[in-house]
Amino acid sequence: MKTIKDIDLKGKKVLVRVDFNVPLDDQGNITDDTRIRAVLPTINYILDAGAALIIMSHLGRPKGKRVEKFSLAPAAGLLEKLLDREVSMADDCVGASVSDAVAHLCPGAVLLLENLRFHDEETKNDDAFAAELASLCEVYISDAFSVSHRKHASVYAICNHAPVCAAGFQLLKELKYFADAMENPKRPLVAIVGGAKVSSKLRALENMLSRVNKIIVGGAMANTFLKSMGYDMGKSLVEDDLVKTAGDLRNRAMKAGISFYLPVDAVVATSPDEDAACKLVPVQEIPSEWMALDIGPATSKLFSEALVDAKTIVWNGPMGMFEKDAYARGTLSMVDSVANAHALSIVGGGDTDVAIHASGLADRISYISTGGGAFLTLLEGKTLPAVAALEAAGT
Ligand code: 3PG
Repeated sequence: MKTIKDIDLKGKKVLVRVDFNVPLDDQGNITDDTRIRAVLPTINYILDAGAALIIMSHLGRPKGKRVEKFSLAPAAGLLEKLLDREVSMADDCVGASVSDAVAHLCPGAVLLLENLRFHDEETKNDDAFAAELASLCEVYISDAFSVSHRKHASVYAICNHAPVCAAGFQLLKELKYFADAMENPKRPLVAIVGGAKVSSKLRALENMLSRVNKIIVGGAMANTFLKSMGYDMGKSLVEDDLVKTAGDLRNRAMKAGISFYLPVDAVVATSPDEDAACKLVPVQEIPSEWMALDIGPATSKLFSEALVDAKTIVWNGPMGMFEKDAYARGTLSMVDSVANAHALSIVGGGDTDVAIHASGLADRISYISTGGGAFLTLLEGKTLPAVAALEAAGT
């Protein structure tokens, strides 16, 4: 795969695919700019090299129509502040007005194209649409790791059309950290897997069986594993159709010599409402009308001890319903344990990154991935289609 450093960018028109799919509040203000800041090294490198910069991204899922609340205009405003230079906003991502604006773009100028997903050709990986995007540039840089699991026109088909294709710094960094953690890790390698459903992490868990030394399972998905051990989980979220699969997976892990950790106590409540009655119980004693919504302190201690000798930690998914304060303790305590471990720690996917930013311990984690679905795809042991396309174009 060619990288941005392999290419002479001076005087060129460079088109960069980023992922500015950022959260916005009701007033259209960006509430988390991590994904925008993450690509600044690539953007600054291109500008410093004397190129004219065209940036493209999607935002939300407007389903092929122009939806004002999904305009990238707020990202242009923020980028202008971060770069301290003018960022022009195009009214579309293809068409005569865009090619005209690009034709007049001088070295050092920045043009942000409007949301790619205002055209359904983007998500359909339409070849003609990809060719039209590619026609805007002399060099195409992909720096959108978090959308690399999608076969979309601006990350996949475009690689057949752009004159030169290469990876940006953010994409390279994500792939390198992941490879360091999962392909050639310092051991013990500990995987922490949480979140609501076993079904969404089954492939990732399967893939981990051949790679990790310990697996820690928390969050509502632990309920399905606990049920497979014969515990009554009351009204907790359990995927009944996966109870046997979960049990088999745990048995296979243990036969392979992998230490498999599950919660030993839980915060249970009569409903997920914050003001519902809640109490702490051992997992063997969950009352039939109650549901588990967070791991308890004995579990936090057990999980923390499992991390003491870890040399590499990969974490995906929260330990409980952490978006509600009453059930956030377990996830925050896990952030603390990971931050204090003497290990390479890589966190990505789901809402785990939100919990880490909320804890104020983000700088004590080795790497927080910008990818949700893309990170999970890597955990499943699969190749990212957009990365494969980039590699094919670079050979
Ligand atoms: C993400 O937020 O995970 C990426 O931007 C991809 O968005 P998508 O799930 O809408 O394709």
